[in-house]
Amino acid sequence: MAGRIAVIGSCMIDLVTYVARMPAAGETLVAPRFEMGFGGKGANQAIACARLGSAVTMIAKVGDDEFGANTLRNFAAEGIDARFVARVGGVSSGVAPIFVEPDGQNRILIVPGANEHLLPADIDQAGEALEGCALILLQLEVPLETVYHAIAWGARHGVPVLLNPAPAHPALDLARIREARFFVPNQSELNLLTGMPTENAESAERAARTLLAGGLENVVVTLGGEGALWVSGGETRLIPPVLVTPVDTTGAGDAFIGSFAHHYVQSGDIDTALLAASRYAAQSITARGTQRSFPSAAAFAAFCAGLAASRPPC
Ligand code: RIB
Repeated sequence: MAGRIAVIGSCMIDLVTYVARMPAAGETLVAPRFEMGFGGKGANQAIACARLGSAVTMIAKVGDDEFGANTLRNFAAEGIDARFVARVGGVSSGVAPIFVEPDGQNRILIVPGANEHLLPADIDQAGEALEGCALILLQLEVPLETVYHAIAWGARHGVPVLLNPAPAHPALDLARIREARFFVPNQSELNLLTGMPTENAESAERAARTLLAGGLENVVVTLGGEGALWVSGGETRLIPPVLVTPVDTTGAGDAFIGSFAHHYVQSGDIDTALLAASRYAAQSITARGTQRSFPSAAAFAAFCAGLAASRPPC
């Protein structure tokens, strides 16, 4: 195994309602299905890495409620090192009411709860474990100061950091994140951060290049059904989408990042990691749920073999 991955981020319990359509204001509608599952962008990315075979350390905060206890049990069941997932007294765990429409599109609300209590001091406390890691993953469902502190910590200790600026945060200070090795927004996050159009690969590349001019090294933009785009120095790479019929797109970005992290740490090669990430994310949206839809290494290998077999020989 090439190296351990640390995730500093959120844990949520996803409360997922599958709707025929969203109700209008003042309207009550019957929805066909409800499911509860483990979520949170940080935890999701950690689970994707672990399912693919990486050793993972999670640094997070949960509440002293049943959701917090279940989250810890989930990490144990997935083989994730959760020594640095602490419970906060008198605070609820994070929860995320999610609505999924018949075409698989999702709408998410988050109630951060204990995630707001993950502080810079928690990173320092986990310092010894972090020092041995090959990559640190960060998102924006914990306080910004914690994110900035983790990036500075990574730079000081020579541990590369991947920042996924999700959900979009208008106050994100680009000057304090430029030491992140990888910056992975989706189109709307990139639009919010740069104020530039990002509706297709060409416009997204122009917007990503302004971030490179600001000091970032690698910008990877996830383009949903259009694939993904990697921009770095003089290079641009468009990774074509894998065509599948979406059932539930919740957590697809997290599946992409977890898979990218795992394959990058294993291979050291960004192209290999991007291809695997887009395939893993595509497979994840063919099933319902967030973490529940993330394939194991064996299921992912079978999916990739199926893609290779269905392609005409050149
Ligand atoms: O990215 C999907 C995740 O966003 C969900 O699991 C939800 O918990 C929110 O954090």
